[in-house]
Amino acid sequence: MKHIMLIGFMGSGKTTVGRQLAAAMKRPFIDMDAEIIKSEGMPITQIFSERGEEYFRKLETQLLQELSRNTVPMVISAGGGVPIQPQNQSCLKELGMVVLLQTSTDVLVERLQGDNSRPILHGGELHNKISELQRQREPIYGQVSDTVITTDRKTIEEIVQEIQARIQFS
Ligand code: S3P
Repeated sequence: MKHIMLIGFMGSGKTTVGRQLAAAMKRPFIDMDAEIIKSEGMPITQIFSERGEEYFRKLETQLLQELSRNTVPMVISAGGGVPIQPQNQSCLKELGMVVLLQTSTDVLVERLQGDNSRPILHGGELHNKISELQRQREPIYGQVSDTVITTDRKTIEEIVQEIQARIQFS
């Protein structure tokens, strides 16, 4: 079994679920955003404002390529924009099993209200912004993923167990 890749919209719980899944499977956990923040020495909002989104997207692609050279099976949480870039899509699939966490717009709005750490959501009305981005991104998430887990009204433990069961039967 290769890596387990968690993908999904911002606020779908990739980092929280990924951390617990990795602990349950006794695997290392990598959060791509956290790796980029560490290597650049600044938060994502600052990377976007000082260097631009294109620069950030290049960092994501580079990191994904580095991870594909790592042979220790890990749980990896990918930023919400990673699957959207065409050049990342084959790499994601080659990395291992791609698990999509799917969360409703209303739950995402609740979770992301007042959060300033995601520059993609800055400005405009949050509900509209999220639903429009979901409309654009969900078909791509669906194409890239091997399995889809809905997360509304589930605890982190339930989601982790569901993913583990899917891995067993894959
Ligand atoms: C982004 C998602 C964020 C982060 C950046 C851009 C996106 O990650 O990579 O703010 O374009 O969806 P999370 O999905 O972990 O919030």
